Amino acid sequence: MSTVNGHNQKAEVAKKAAETVLRQHAEQQFAEELEELAKIDTRKRPPNWKLSPWAVRTYLMGATLPNGFEITPKYIGNPRLMEIAIATLATDRALLLYGVPGTAKSWVSEHLAAAITGNSTLLIQGTAGTDETAIRYGWNYARLLVEGPSPDALVVSPMMQAMREGKIARIEELTRIPSEVQDTLITILSEKTLPVPELNMEVQANKGFNVIATANNRDKGVNELSSALMRRFNTVVLPTPDSMEAEVEIVERRVASLGKALELPAEKPALEEIRRVVTIFRELREGRTLDSKTKVKVPSGTLSTAEAISVINNGLAMAGYYGDGVLRADDLAAGLTGAIVKDPVQDRVVWLEYLQTVVKEREGWKDLYRACREVL
Ligand SMILES: Nc1ncnc2c1ncn2[C@@H]1O[C@H](COP(=O)(O)OP(=O)(O)O)[C@@H](O)[C@H]1O
Ligand SMILES: [Mg+2]
Repeated sequence: MSTVNGHNQKAEVAKKAAETVLRQHAEQQFAEELEELAKIDTRKRPPNWKLSPWAVRTYLMGATLPNGFEITPKYIGNPRLMEIAIATLATDRALLLYGVPGTAKSWVSEHLAAAITGNSTLLIQGTAGTDETAIRYGWNYARLLVEGPSPDALVVSPMMQAMREGKIARIEELTRIPSEVQDTLITILSEKTLPVPELNMEVQANKGFNVIATANNRDKGVNELSSALMRRFNTVVLPTPDSMEAEVEIVERRVASLGKALELPAEKPALEEIRRVVTIFRELREGRTLDSKTKVKVPSGTLSTAEAISVINNGLAMAGYYGDGVLRADDLAAGLTGAIVKDPVQDRVVWLEYLQTVVKEREGWKDLYRACREVL
């Protein structure tokens, strides 16, 4: 009995500690959902997976379980895309999530790793400065000098760890990594082994190992994948939300959970305010008003759903700390302007024109027009 209590206490302490971190990993934040799913999941699991592909899909898309437990949707969009992504990870091909910024590539990658392996932290951030050691392994130079190459002097990369443990390694922004470094992945993905010639050994991947990479096509200085590497990946393109309703729902859900995590002292935003921001984003993105009557100019930046979430969230902080806790046009104006005007000259013209021709004329939008003109 006492060991059970001790165990419970330890779990409690871990839970408390997780509550004070600014951002929990998916497997921490949604631990309860993952547990409930595991309990009822009797379907076949690929080797070393914590859940069946069916349960992973349910975790991503959300559902009410037979016992009434609510699984929140993580990805809002076409379930087929998630099925393809999950099924890919059960094969010998790696998964590449591709698309414009802010389409939930990183978000989906984290949740997939959390649901499949219970660990989303085996992460390599791709940058122009990412070198081979970040993907393969490095050396602890102090030990290397004293002992020479030895297993203890080896600095294990997240990739090597994922191979050893049969887990999923995540690579963020793969196309920002220089091409010759990208190609170190070829052996890992095709032979499923990581040779360490200095120690005359290799690390062979255990069952369950796979890689999820994300890449976007809008970055400056992207390094296209070589065709040899591309062949090792199955690409799933994540689109921008196709309907207004879907986009509003994404923003609403994410704002609610972010607001809770940040403990913002503001009320839940009115759906109407979310609709206004999403409308503006969609119209500017598409270059015409939703009723297709008016053409508008397109600003230089990508106005993604992720940015709409930030604008509302920013507005909530303004409303909570400087206003009366209710999100209004004044609280949104600065954030909106900041998101849209990325180029101080051209985008300012675009935004001004949109304000004059669309926002000013729209029924019930005068408050937003005035607030935005004030900060521009
Ligand atoms: N279809 C979607 N379903 C759920 N959340 C979404 C969707 N599209 C965007 N988001 C939200 O947008 C935010 C940014 O997504 P992120 O994964 O960082 O984008 P990127 O594609 O640039 O990696 C996340 O908080 C995510 O929840
Ligand atoms: Mg990303």
